[in-house]
Amino acid sequence: MDSFDNAYDFVTAKHPERATLGLRPHAAARAASWFLDNFPGEVAYAYKANSSVFLLGALYGAGIHSFDVASLPELEDAATIPRARLNYMHPVKPRTAIRRAYHEYGVTCFALDSHDELEKILDETGCADDLQLFVRIKVPAINSKIPLERKFGATADQAVQLLTRTRQYCNKLGVCFHVGSQTVTPHAFEMAFATLRKTIVEAGVVVDGVDVGGGFPACYSRERPSELIEFVNVIKKHFESLPVSSDCHLICEPGRALVAEAESLIVRVDARRGKELFITDGSYGVLFDAAHLKFQLPVRLVGQKSVKTQDCTSFSLWGPTCDSIDYIEGPFLLPNSVREGDYLEIGNIGAYGRAIASKFNGYGQYNEVILYDEPIYTMYPKSSNTFVQSV
Ligand SMILES: Cc1ncc(COP(=O)(O)O)c(C=O)c1O
Repeated sequence: MDSFDNAYDFVTAKHPERATLGLRPHAAARAASWFLDNFPGEVAYAYKANSSVFLLGALYGAGIHSFDVASLPELEDAATIPRARLNYMHPVKPRTAIRRAYHEYGVTCFALDSHDELEKILDETGCADDLQLFVRIKVPAINSKIPLERKFGATADQAVQLLTRTRQYCNKLGVCFHVGSQTVTPHAFEMAFATLRKTIVEAGVVVDGVDVGGGFPACYSRERPSELIEFVNVIKKHFESLPVSSDCHLICEPGRALVAEAESLIVRVDARRGKELFITDGSYGVLFDAAHLKFQLPVRLVGQKSVKTQDCTSFSLWGPTCDSIDYIEGPFLLPNSVREGDYLEIGNIGAYGRAIASKFNGYGQYNEVILYDEPIYTMYPKSSNTFVQSV
């Protein structure tokens, strides 16, 4: 893959027709090192967030060897990583996937949130005696952009019974939860631990593992989420006082926080109509979250040195397809001078961007290049709080 110092050098050299993903493996490696240094337990990567081999390589090289997978295709892919430890943490799995995960890929760690799922796991593994089963508990989503509790998790009452029953059939019993993706304050983890405590006490079972899921935030704008260390401190404090076995294993499985800032999207402006720009990727591509969940992504005009706010205009973006929902309202603050033929860098799209992109209208294929410069925003020390304009 070609590599460049920054988006400007790439655009000047290649004048790309297609939308381009600018990968920054160094940013993924930095994020992984931060989690490995600061999180007081195992760090597993949520594979679904981005399965680029370059980013996986960076995470792996930094020391992340555990992966949370959520489907059989993800599992098959992740199983090609040498010595990968794979946890199948989707609470509802097809029978074939359970069977193949256990018998072909040696996966012993599964999540569940119902008695039916427990039956399925027992049936398909032949009541194996080496299972590590994590009961997913519903916890409130607080300050999160994508709440997950409506879809998954046993309520505290259901979880009491489910924990008691699951304990009888597994080698190691765990509890897990997810506070919702892009949770911007650690309060949700406090509430989640309160629910865990109550449930474990009522069930009166020995718990060998606690998986706090993902939800750790990425930085998309000047309004920074709480610092990651605050999340870790809350988890550490509450985990230490949880009524669990003395050698209870703590796990986290971030997706977004590990890879969001490790990719940018580079697009060309194909038309300007007033304050609207038509660009070469959109809501059917990697900008799904920006279009449908109103993520405010950072953007800069490639090749433009720092611009005063008074010389900027708030733009909306139209994607390249024929569909009118292919629209990203923004606002995207860009120099007043933007015009057809210019290129934009839309930053921090590494989490779930390429994973969601579709091929609608023949799009969905991207150039890929490595970029050596810094992401537009970072959550991680050294370059925190920096807003780097292309030169
Ligand atoms: C079970 C599970 N773990 C981890 C993650 C990763 O979450 P995030 O990207 O918010 O860190 C998800 C995301 O949906 C998930 O469902």
